[in-house]
Amino acid sequence: MAWKLSLEGQCGIVTGAASGIGRAAARHIAAMGADLLLVDLDAGRLEEAVSEIRQAAPGRRVSSAFADASREAEVRRAVAEALSAFGAIDFLVNGHGILRRTAFAGIATEEWDLMMAVNLRGCFLFCREVIPHLLRRGKGAIVNVASLAGRTCSILGGAHYTAAKHGLVGLSRHLAREYARQGIRVNAFCPGATLTPMTLTTTTPEEFERVAAAIPRGRWASPEEQAGVIGFLLSEAAANITGACIDSNGGSLMI
Ligand SMILES: NC(=O)c1ccc[n+]([C@@H]2O[C@H](COP(=O)([O-])OP(=O)(O)OC[C@H]3O[C@@H](n4cnc5c(N)ncnc54)[C@H](O)[C@@H]3O)[C@@H](O)[C@H]2O)c1
Repeated sequence: MAWKLSLEGQCGIVTGAASGIGRAAARHIAAMGADLLLVDLDAGRLEEAVSEIRQAAPGRRVSSAFADASREAEVRRAVAEALSAFGAIDFLVNGHGILRRTAFAGIATEEWDLMMAVNLRGCFLFCREVIPHLLRRGKGAIVNVASLAGRTCSILGGAHYTAAKHGLVGLSRHLAREYARQGIRVNAFCPGATLTPMTLTTTTPEEFERVAAAIPRGRWASPEEQAGVIGFLLSEAAANITGACIDSNGGSLMI
């Protein structure tokens, strides 16, 4: 029997959906047939993403919630909005994140805390809020967008970025083990260098070339290439994949 890559009849949440990998993932997941709540704290680009996806995937229910993933009350409200829009939740993609390039000695405690609050606690809060609804259905999938930085160490971000992404990989594995028997799959997705506003706004042309040259495949990934992997991980085709770190980095990590 051939397993399907379709997400028809499913509904879920994508965070960080206003930009980059999250936005491409939302577009791709809607094209796979799912209804979506897009979450981000960039209200302007979020609305732009909603209309883009509505146009690209007519017939899909696409709504949005302005929320800061690091704030418990806002996460709770966003998940409640998904429930009131769709009546159920089948999946969650934690695609939000921030990057800071500060060298270790210069990382202020506040910047450390912000990094952990957004890149790690924000994913924890969304998982904790969504999992009871997946349990009620006896099935569901979560993809936490970690990073190559969570497998080795960041080439662009600071030590706090690397630490938060390692934490997210650990959180994903732990949840995978805890909920495997209840039908919930949890995977960490670890992209390498990807062309998004996050990286394009923080990389000089020289660094850009240097990073590309260090990738065995010889180039940065597009957000769409990363979105395809996220869609696969949510689909029935990945039914036996849980607790994994799925790398998509053009060969940057070979272990
Ligand atoms: N671009 C890369 O090379 C790369 C590589 C590895 C991992 N990643 C990870 O992929 C994810 C997406 O990154 P991207 O490159 O698409 O970046 P991006 O900046 O293009 O998109 C990130 C989105 O997250 C949103 N966001 C930030 N803080 C938030 C918060 N507190 N609450 C809600 N939304 C918030 C932003 O507004 C933005 O829309 C991040 O977790 C990033 O660490 C990116």
